[in-house]
Amino acid sequence: MFLNLKKSLAMLAGVAAMTLTASVAHADGEVNIYSSRHYDTDERLYSDFTEATGIKVNRIEAGASELLERLKAEGANSPADVVLTVDAGRLWAFQQEDLFQSINSTTLNEAIPANLRDEDGNWYGISQRARVIFYDKAAVSNPPQTYADLADPQYKGMICARSSTNIYMLSLLASQISHNGEEAAKTWAQGLLDNLARDPQGGDTDQLRGIVSGECKIAVSNTYYFARAIRKDVKGLSGSTDSIGWVFPDQDANGTHVNISGAAVAKNSKNKENAIKFIEYLTGEQAQSYFAAGNDEYPVIEGVALSSSVQQLGTFKADDLGLEELGKNQAAAQKIYNEIGYK
Ligand SMILES: [Fe+2]
Repeated sequence: MFLNLKKSLAMLAGVAAMTLTASVAHADGEVNIYSSRHYDTDERLYSDFTEATGIKVNRIEAGASELLERLKAEGANSPADVVLTVDAGRLWAFQQEDLFQSINSTTLNEAIPANLRDEDGNWYGISQRARVIFYDKAAVSNPPQTYADLADPQYKGMICARSSTNIYMLSLLASQISHNGEEAAKTWAQGLLDNLARDPQGGDTDQLRGIVSGECKIAVSNTYYFARAIRKDVKGLSGSTDSIGWVFPDQDANGTHVNISGAAVAKNSKNKENAIKFIEYLTGEQAQSYFAAGNDEYPVIEGVALSSSVQQLGTFKADDLGLEELGKNQAAAQKIYNEIGYK
């Protein structure tokens, strides 16, 4: 059933891509967006852009790896102008396949902090999320305050985290490699593995659900999964958010690990000016609000109001590590996880 559904979706997406190629790739006044994200607030985002600029927005939505494969297969004929996806590690993977092009936009360079965009203009952070520590308030009186604490034997058998094949876990370890070197990062990963309450499994929401069910005392998750459960009904979590506390790690040191949703101009864009205009538009105050709120994320532009669910998490000191570092250290991170047997 799952395979068939997946196949049907792929075929459907293929048809949509062909239609795009045939009808709009060279047209003026349009921009073709390949996006691995979709939220209700995005609709308003796109219609406001069209209203403000007259540029029509065409969209293809699919998973990040499907978009990457599609861009590779389409090559020079690709109708894609803008690519939207999450995690600097993933943006780096697109860049490694030569699927983006460098742009030079004063608007973007001035608006977006340097650590949240590629130094050569290949991709730009449009919203940000933090990878933080959640815990069962009733069961944990001294929650971990740092990422290093996650490897402390006092938390043996208490922590839930997802699999090492997940990009968020790779990027978190990549940041540890950048800050502390490979040897220390490996020791840390081994300590985390030793403290796990169960084999790595599920998504971030499942780690949080594990706190509710009692299987996990402590969980590692991106902020927006928890904020989403405050904003709307998330099964197995929403009724219980009051029993869960959270810590933004490393506030007295490097700051909390953050990652981004990002935008890039596709390598073979036929509407490059419109693509740049669209990404610049995403840094405007209203667009920032919509884009960040759509996934309960933090805006990248200072001074933009947080959505109410994110406000409840509060502000924090973010790690200002240049996010291209996460891409560069992906392979080393995977190697460490493999060597220690972290599934
Ligand atoms: Fe996510």
